[in-house]
Amino acid sequence: MNGIKMNILVTGGNGQLGTSIRERTGSHPDWRFSFYDLPELDITSEAQVEAAVRSTECGAIINCAAYTEVDRAESEPEIAYRVNRDGAAVLARCAKAAGALLAHVSTDYVFNGSACRPYTETDLPDPPGVYGRSKLEGELRIREIAPSYLIIRTSWLYSLHGRNFLNTMLRLGAERERLDVVFDQVGTPTRASDLAGAILSMISGVKPGVKYAGIYHYSNEGVCSWYDFATAIMRLKSFPCMVRPIESSGYPTPAPRPAYSVLNKEAIKTDWGLDIPHWYDTLADQLTTHQANQSSS
Ligand SMILES: NC(=O)c1ccc[n+]([C@@H]2O[C@H](COP(=O)([O-])OP(=O)(O)OC[C@H]3O[C@@H](n4cnc5c(N)ncnc54)[C@H](OP(=O)(O)O)[C@@H]3O)[C@@H](O)[C@H]2O)c1
Repeated sequence: MNGIKMNILVTGGNGQLGTSIRERTGSHPDWRFSFYDLPELDITSEAQVEAAVRSTECGAIINCAAYTEVDRAESEPEIAYRVNRDGAAVLARCAKAAGALLAHVSTDYVFNGSACRPYTETDLPDPPGVYGRSKLEGELRIREIAPSYLIIRTSWLYSLHGRNFLNTMLRLGAERERLDVVFDQVGTPTRASDLAGAILSMISGVKPGVKYAGIYHYSNEGVCSWYDFATAIMRLKSFPCMVRPIESSGYPTPAPRPAYSVLNKEAIKTDWGLDIPHWYDTLADQLTTHQANQSSS
């Protein structure tokens, strides 16, 4: 597909990752992107996905649609499974029928968090919560059905759009003098824009006629706790808010969280030649954009 015009269908196009892909379309003038989201395209509706695939004549589908309410999934598992497992299966069947590549995004929450070194793609998943189990089931359906797929597991996604840790910290940092944040959950933040760039770069590296069957890990480089992440945001924004490290037992949540979910990215770097920014550098860059947006509004 190198240098060849291609139509790309993006599902979940209004979410954080979908929006970040939308912001990068200018870098790929040869491709025609079609962005869909609820209510016009529900990935659990075979008829809607079939119609969108047919009308866009897409060579690749990027699935950014997901049920992402990690805590709420514990009390409404049927919705989480319907979207994350059954929706993934619908996309896989439609990609198969159209002969399209399916690029699908999954999560570090497929791991139980008991490791003490970064998770590789061959480590055994063992999701502790409904969200992670539903995402793992989605991965399995795609691997069973889709003749050509790339599954990209990521972690701690943030952007300036939607609900995420960065936006929560920007709000609370401006309001509060003190904030308690857990220090015993360790992972890596991932800027949605960086992940969007990585996915598009992978698609541009796809070779015509080749069938792909790959699972890859992608996050920004480096390791931190949520406490470190919050502290970095406060410092970079010069908020006077003091961040205090607390144990997870002091911040109970309905869904269990992995204590350690750092992803090993050697495979994606080797196979796709990606250069991945460090989480702190890309956060600083994101906050410069945030500052510029605030100054111009
Ligand atoms: N956020 C994270 O920290 C994180 C971490 C690791 C992996 N991931 C994975 O990364 C991917 C992108 O996440 P994100 O943060 O961009 O999620 P997001 O902001 O929640 O966006 C998901 C989008 O999918 C839409 N959607 C929900 N159900 C749908 C359905 N049945 N059919 C079509 N669209 C539907 C949502 O619409 P509504 O808003 O109207 O529901 C939303 O626009 C997901 O696969 C997620 O599992 C996320």
